Amino acid sequence: MKPKCVVALALPNDIIEHLKVRYDVAAWSGSEAMNPGQLSDALKGAQGLLCALSTRLTAEMMDHASELKVISTISVGVDHIDIGAATQRGIPVGHTPGVLVDSTADLAVALMLAVTRRVAEADQWVREGQWTQGWQSDLLLGTDISQATIGLVGLGPIGEAVARRLRGFGCKLVGWNRTPKAVDGVESMALDEVFETADVVSLHTALTDETRHIASRERLALMRPGATLINTGRGPLVDEAALIEALASGRLRAGLDVFSKEPLPADHPFLSLRNVVLLPHVGSATLSTRNAMVRRALENLDAGMRNERLAWCANPAVYGG
Ligand code: GLV
Repeated sequence: MKPKCVVALALPNDIIEHLKVRYDVAAWSGSEAMNPGQLSDALKGAQGLLCALSTRLTAEMMDHASELKVISTISVGVDHIDIGAATQRGIPVGHTPGVLVDSTADLAVALMLAVTRRVAEADQWVREGQWTQGWQSDLLLGTDISQATIGLVGLGPIGEAVARRLRGFGCKLVGWNRTPKAVDGVESMALDEVFETADVVSLHTALTDETRHIASRERLALMRPGATLINTGRGPLVDEAALIEALASGRLRAGLDVFSKEPLPADHPFLSLRNVVLLPHVGSATLSTRNAMVRRALENLDAGMRNERLAWCANPAVYGG
């Protein structure tokens, strides 16, 4: 009998067929994520789980999945999985670091430009038929990245890749990292000072208990009037209620790819604000990056199913150090 493997998200048929060669696959094909009850049911008797960000995996669910021996997520972030609980139960969690660095850094820079040069707003303006006069000297004026100070919160691989791109723009770069780190062209600063100093603050930390609301109400209040917050990390890095107030008052601008609640509810206050560019969590959404992520996730899954060490493991403590 083939070992059972749950695929908790809709994936192209060729991937499912490829998995079926080795596993008894329980594949989810719904357009919405599996709810906790559906996932717990599916995990009964399963040894492997292939999932992504919309699958929340709690300790309780793991308790109901007594045969589970590998979790493989098609993401670098693992905040949707109770990592401590997985480690305690001896379950390695595979993730996909590295391969999405460039795509995510590109998108962060795209959001910076979209906000500072009012790209989304201008596109909407043209489509609404408002372009009735030719070139106008004061039309949709923005601000220049080249003259800005950009603050990077988190100087891991993605923060560094953003810095690499921005060096070409000629702007001033300042940054903070939890463990102080020298990055070419980036002046190190205390976290509060980054928020105080920068014209654009871009978040590049993983979501953990320590980084939740790293862009707190107090730090948002430190930002300069007219400054921009960019978030391509995770929604809960930001105190969204405080950000909404700062946007509504016109004090700040923002470019957001991630939200505490995804998808963004239809009545969410962000949707009625014009000084924020909103994207549907597409930081890694290029064909080649997504293919590379799936390849890594499948390698992790296969290794776990064979009781081998995962090449990209988010909880190496599971192997005893
Ligand atoms: C995307 O947000 C990821 O964590 O891969």
